[in-house]
Amino acid sequence: MKIVSTIAETRAAVRAAKAAGKTVGFVPTMGALHAGHISLVRAAKARCDYVAVSIFVNPTQFGPSEDLARYPRTFDADCEKLISEKVNLLFAPSVEEMYPAGASTLVIAEGISERLDGHSRPGHFRGVTTVVAKLFHILDPNVAFFGQKDAAQAAIIQRMVRDLAFPVDIVVCPIVRESDGLALSSRNVYLSAAERKQALVLSRTLREVETRWRAGERDSARLIEIARRVLLSEPEVRLDYIEIVDPASLEAIANISQPALVAVAAFVGSTRLIDNLLLG
Ligand code: PAJ
Repeated sequence: MKIVSTIAETRAAVRAAKAAGKTVGFVPTMGALHAGHISLVRAAKARCDYVAVSIFVNPTQFGPSEDLARYPRTFDADCEKLISEKVNLLFAPSVEEMYPAGASTLVIAEGISERLDGHSRPGHFRGVTTVVAKLFHILDPNVAFFGQKDAAQAAIIQRMVRDLAFPVDIVVCPIVRESDGLALSSRNVYLSAAERKQALVLSRTLREVETRWRAGERDSARLIEIARRVLLSEPEVRLDYIEIVDPASLEAIANISQPALVAVAAFVGSTRLIDNLLLG
């Protein structure tokens, strides 16, 4: 695996791969890699000849009171994992490489970026679209891989790619979970043993909504009420939002007649976790 930190080296490596007739797959990450990230790498390996991964803890997608400084950084272990997956290129830039002094250009998907996490984390998705647009320019991939775990992010990236005609296919891969249902997340390392147990209420809530939906309930307000009750059964967990929305526009759906995204965010102690489920 070639490890590079500059835009110039990355462009040269990708250009050489393309000149050799290879299709380029790209998996953007913030590191602290777990089996969820690795599932994206494997999907990329299965579909593309040349796979590039980025590790960049992007400061512009963290709010002022969020966990940028303490976000887990496990670069050496990440490299080992990517080497054993036979990743071809790792781009791990510095903040200065990605944001030259005075950088002032933003990519904003208006409206959709204020929904779900965008509502609780103002500016978050603006940071995501700006950095992903820049990464797409640098890596110039044929296909890029994202996780359904961050369903709103995946929808917003798809909107950006469509609106700005990026020549890249977006593939969204299923959520990887622990055997007890907890969705894998780099932030799970923040959880104490007790919080780890409490955190299971997120996936339990989604499963309950799915059960009621399978039994015929189609009214979003009633499903959300049921979900709130399940979440409240775990008194240490503080609900941020639970919403039923259109998976592409992220707009609320009152009656479920088409595919719907049930998205939940909650604080377990000081850790904010998200999870979601597609109905239909
Ligand atoms: P990060 O949180 O590191 O996630 C990188 C990718 O891994 C995202 O597409 C995310 O949805 C996916 N992922 C995380 N947990 C997963 C799980 N349990 N199952 C499946 N996929 C999972 O998302 C980001 O980084 C950043 O916002 C980024 C896109 C890199 C821009 O900075």
